Amino acid sequence: MNKPLAHTPPMGWNSWNTFSWNINAELIMTSADHMVSTGLRDAGYEYIVIDDCWSEKQRVNGRLVPDKNKFPDGIKPVAEYVHSKGLKFGMYSCAGTHTCAGYPGSFEHEFDDAETFAEWGVDYLKYDYCYKPSAADGANLYKRMGMALRNCGRDIVFSACNWGEDNVHHWIRESGAHSYRSTHDITDNWDSVREIALSQLDKESFTGNYCHNDMDMLVVGMYGGSNSDWIGSKIGGCTDAQYKTHFSLWAMMGSPLMIGCDIRCANQVTKDILLNKDLIAINQDPEARGAYRIKVEPQWFHEDEAFVLVKALQNGDLAIGLYNFSDAPRELTVQFWDMGIPAAAGVALSLYDCWEHKEIGLFKERFAATVPAGDCVV
Ligand code: GLA
Repeated sequence: MNKPLAHTPPMGWNSWNTFSWNINAELIMTSADHMVSTGLRDAGYEYIVIDDCWSEKQRVNGRLVPDKNKFPDGIKPVAEYVHSKGLKFGMYSCAGTHTCAGYPGSFEHEFDDAETFAEWGVDYLKYDYCYKPSAADGANLYKRMGMALRNCGRDIVFSACNWGEDNVHHWIRESGAHSYRSTHDITDNWDSVREIALSQLDKESFTGNYCHNDMDMLVVGMYGGSNSDWIGSKIGGCTDAQYKTHFSLWAMMGSPLMIGCDIRCANQVTKDILLNKDLIAINQDPEARGAYRIKVEPQWFHEDEAFVLVKALQNGDLAIGLYNFSDAPRELTVQFWDMGIPAAAGVALSLYDCWEHKEIGLFKERFAATVPAGDCVV
């Protein structure tokens, strides 16, 4: 038997956030080169995924056809190139009649398309929800593609993307999907990051091995450089501290880590964030437990303004993140009894700072840190 797919959250790069429709074989192959030369591959980023807008507008003999201008030699050589770099290759389709950008979707073509993807050497399929006939049952459509992929003769990670509609967290695991998008599209700004994170806090029991809560691709390192302002999404970018907080949230909350910036020209700060091996290890912990939220002291903070996330790790460690979503620096305190450590037990925690990459000492009962606005301490 093959090793089960997506034991931990998938990691990789996806073309959509930065390039949307403006994709081609060369971009995909050079991005694969940069996954290697930047060290991202060796840090665990594995999948290079082509999102929407890769095909012709019409099927030929019932089959999907790659856009002749963008992929003149077809998809297979691109997949082979990606594989030759020690990476895996992903593509995109949709449960509806059309993709969100209006290209042919896989509705009623699920088994043919799974076969096509397998022939091309696809290892990962993102599966969207646009143009779903209103009478069709979404859960059933994801079951169909789930069945098709499991029977296409190739291991393909199934990345469902229905934006959290129809209470997807209640039915998606059974469909065979390895991750599910739980929110609407991320945009490259702090409001979007914050809103997505808050919407998924308290859903920690709906993520786990083999079916991860996908909070959407990372915007780390985009700095407003999105190609998709046609949907009104180019709203400014984030500060470096906000990108760091965004990455810390996605890592701790168990989201897939799919890079969305242009890795061919990522700056050093971006690389330092994406390559943070401590955060990656938290994200890739073998048990894939969700992170729970606890209140910080002082208690007058609104729980969405400042909070602590805690994720239990396989080796008995705890990942602890103090997050400041307010617009001023805050001194935040975490009480250890909130994490199941009775004060009377006399236990001390030996704390390590995952951004400073150093031990910060032994603490009993509580830990306090002053966290700048929009920043975090993990
Ligand atoms: C939807 C998805 C995005 C992206 C676009 C492509 O909006 O949520 O992630 O795939 O479609 O059109």
